Amino acid sequence: MTNSPYLVSPCLTKEQLELTKTVKLGVMASGSGSNFEAIAQAINEGRLNAKIEVLIYNNPNAKVKERASRLNIPCVLLNHRHYKTREALDQAIVEVFRSNQVEWVVMAGWMRIITQELLNAYPQKVINIHPSILPSFKGINAVEQALEAKVKVTGCTVHLVDLEVDSGKILIQAVVPILPDDTSDTLHDRIQVQEHRIIVEGISIAVQESLE
Ligand code: GRF
Repeated sequence: MTNSPYLVSPCLTKEQLELTKTVKLGVMASGSGSNFEAIAQAINEGRLNAKIEVLIYNNPNAKVKERASRLNIPCVLLNHRHYKTREALDQAIVEVFRSNQVEWVVMAGWMRIITQELLNAYPQKVINIHPSILPSFKGINAVEQALEAKVKVTGCTVHLVDLEVDSGKILIQAVVPILPDDTSDTLHDRIQVQEHRIIVEGISIAVQESLE
């Protein structure tokens, strides 16, 4: 299933990963958006039968906005600073997704805690990517946490989202070795190479498993 030198958890075969129906995705991102672009690229190259209907971002200067413009993907800024509660922000998110006929939600570097508002609207249909082998190193600074713990390997996880942070059913994981001279930047760069692959496979797995 993979030609990566790094270990990826075995899930479905290539044939099983193929989606027969085009899945309508809504993506949420707060920063650079490299995972968002990896999804868009997989779609453009025919590796993922999906369409990104809309991107929601929350930081006005996030680089992900430029990526969306370049890729011609509609995007909406929902600045969390303008909402009184987390619930109010999530209600606005749901409104945007529903009006764009979104079926599955992908949190691709969304740096806000989400609430039941989003999960009720999309039960078992919200996917997240996290830069560690969960359940190790939950929360922010997962890459730094792994370095501080002096573990020999870390990696990334794609999982379904529930109310607990970085929890929920694990869909796929990839292992990345920690090298002696690694800084958080060099390690995160190598983790991201794996993220860009498993985010795509994780979406396929989630959709396939929901049909079983
Ligand atoms: C990724 O490392 C992801 O695991 C974490 O936030 C980062 C987002 O990166 N949740 P990018 O914005 O997709 O480049």
